Amino acid sequence: MSHPATISEQIQTLGYLNIPINPEIDLVVEINALKRKKNAVILAHYYQVKELQEIADYIGDSLGLSQEAAKTEAEIIVFAGVHFMGETAKIINPDKKVIVPDLKAGCSLADSCPPDKFEKFVNAHPDHMVISYINCSAEIKALSDIVCTSSNAVKIINAVPKDCKIIFAPDYNLGKYLQKETKRDMVLWNGACMVHEAFSIDKILELHKRHPEAAFIAHPESESHILDIADFIGSTTALINYVKGDTRKEFIIATEAGILHQMRIESPDKKLIAAPSVEDNSCACSECGYMKLNTLEKLYLCMVHEQPEIKVGKDLQKRALLPIQRMLDISAGNQ
Ligand code: 13P
Ligand code: SF4
Repeated sequence: MSHPATISEQIQTLGYLNIPINPEIDLVVEINALKRKKNAVILAHYYQVKELQEIADYIGDSLGLSQEAAKTEAEIIVFAGVHFMGETAKIINPDKKVIVPDLKAGCSLADSCPPDKFEKFVNAHPDHMVISYINCSAEIKALSDIVCTSSNAVKIINAVPKDCKIIFAPDYNLGKYLQKETKRDMVLWNGACMVHEAFSIDKILELHKRHPEAAFIAHPESESHILDIADFIGSTTALINYVKGDTRKEFIIATEAGILHQMRIESPDKKLIAAPSVEDNSCACSECGYMKLNTLEKLYLCMVHEQPEIKVGKDLQKRALLPIQRMLDISAGNQ
């Protein structure tokens, strides 16, 4: 029986299309024309390079992007983000074509939770409900009861009966933060995001001395000693809204530096400073190498050739959809 190629099999044949592009063409004009011609929608995460954010029909955090994927009427979803995001869009829309600029745009956090090991972990805690952060593979979602994002994790956990013990995966830092916020009995998988665990507390404190009026805000994937000193903790959308709504004029921001593009657009009068990471002695930016694999050129090629395409086997799609649908329903207040 034939089976869909695994991600690594697909990457071997088609990581992205390395075809020369005519230097005369205007990529933005061509991409917009392709969008209309093919009835395609471009969804982009806030961590994408600014050219991709600017051409997207919708820019958002993981929750907003899943909600947008669930309601789109486009025939083709072009996902400028990382693999688990495109995969989630495909799980929600099994009959639509989901294409990505670069299939190699993965995620260290998703990689830190291999399905075989996670299945054993789940089986070792039989009386626990499994809540997984959306930054994981379809296989992990299929082993979960409910999916959540950083926007709705507290709401999702609070929707679970109080006497229910919880396994939270794959992000340990987010899990620890949620344990503190919800006071729930939780067992945590020990996974992490390489961008958010790289912030340097010493450098942040040093920077704050030079900007004593600045608010320090952080994404909850950051380590607990970083979150402990934060004035505000939230998802990418929540961080953007916080900067917009707060009266202070300076902000030190601990999340992937791509977010600064949208923040600058929404809060042009504020000084935004990317929090420094341990290895960073120059520009103080923390960038996700996976997110940054996507470029305008690759977006154009993927729309011309409708490749690389995200594939999810039928059985896996069905099993992974249920916990995503529960998340969408709880977020919409339907449960
Ligand atoms: P949110 O989009 O939920 O803020 O998560 C950030 C992230 O790490 C995406 O990879
Ligand atoms: Fe994954 Fe971290 Fe990159 Fe987000 S920022 S895609 S969690 S590695």
